[in-house]
Amino acid sequence: MLKIISPIKNDFESLYLQVREKEERLYTVEEVRRLPHVPKGHPHYKEWEIRRLGLEGVLNHLNEREEIKSILEIGCGNGWFSAGIAEYFPEKEVTGCDLNMCELEMADKAFDFTNLHFIYADIFEELVGSDLNFDLIILPSSVQYFSDFDNLMSALWELTDEVHILDSPFYLEEDLEDAVNRTRQYYHNLGFPKMAKMYFHHSYEDLKKYNPEFLYRPPTGWRKKFARTPFPWIRLIKPRA
Ligand SMILES: C[S@@+](CC[C@H](N)C(=O)[O-])C[C@H]1O[C@@H](n2cnc3c(N)ncnc32)[C@H](O)[C@@H]1O
Repeated sequence: MLKIISPIKNDFESLYLQVREKEERLYTVEEVRRLPHVPKGHPHYKEWEIRRLGLEGVLNHLNEREEIKSILEIGCGNGWFSAGIAEYFPEKEVTGCDLNMCELEMADKAFDFTNLHFIYADIFEELVGSDLNFDLIILPSSVQYFSDFDNLMSALWELTDEVHILDSPFYLEEDLEDAVNRTRQYYHNLGFPKMAKMYFHHSYEDLKKYNPEFLYRPPTGWRKKFARTPFPWIRLIKPRA
């Protein structure tokens, strides 16, 4: 069931959807139901293989975490990741939250598990200050859309004591400038230069004060080619007051 908690905003959504369409990342309901599995010749096959490993890692982890009963995914998009968790663990309540109505409607059409919920909500406005609370919050491939990491973490600590971030790049300080330039160039070449202003680069330095635990940290230098995925999987635990 899709619940609308926040007033609908279109500023980010319309540009984001145009970009996703150009990148061939908008899927039919049938395709969404099969994610992360896509045919071998699919333009994003390799990327989906990486995403599959991300989901499998989380499912394995949650297998050992019986005490986790409620999970919130921030930036759930078409819902495949939340649905993967909900299907595997019918006893856990999974909520996917996004500010993209088009993708949320797709999620709502594609999946129908009684323990799976989708909400249109702005975490900074309607969620923070609500009485909602989750045993775990997960951000798969979405942290790069939040401009201020500290601001994001402050909001998340109002909703949970445990955050997992995965399938998003984090950079060494010395690599940040190049990464920003690459993103600018990428969106310029794609024909959507404004999108570069909505994509943010976070560094390992940003994480430090949160005492991160790396459930996976990709190797650097020549070892990079042996990486299971190029993205770290980070667990952050709320400090005790
Ligand atoms: C790359 S998609 C990731 C979707 C999904 N988590 C996955 O693993 O495939 C990033 C999602 O973050 C959402 N997003 C960006 N900013 C957001 C915000 N402030 N609040 C909630 N969702 C946001 C976007 O609308 C988009 O659906």
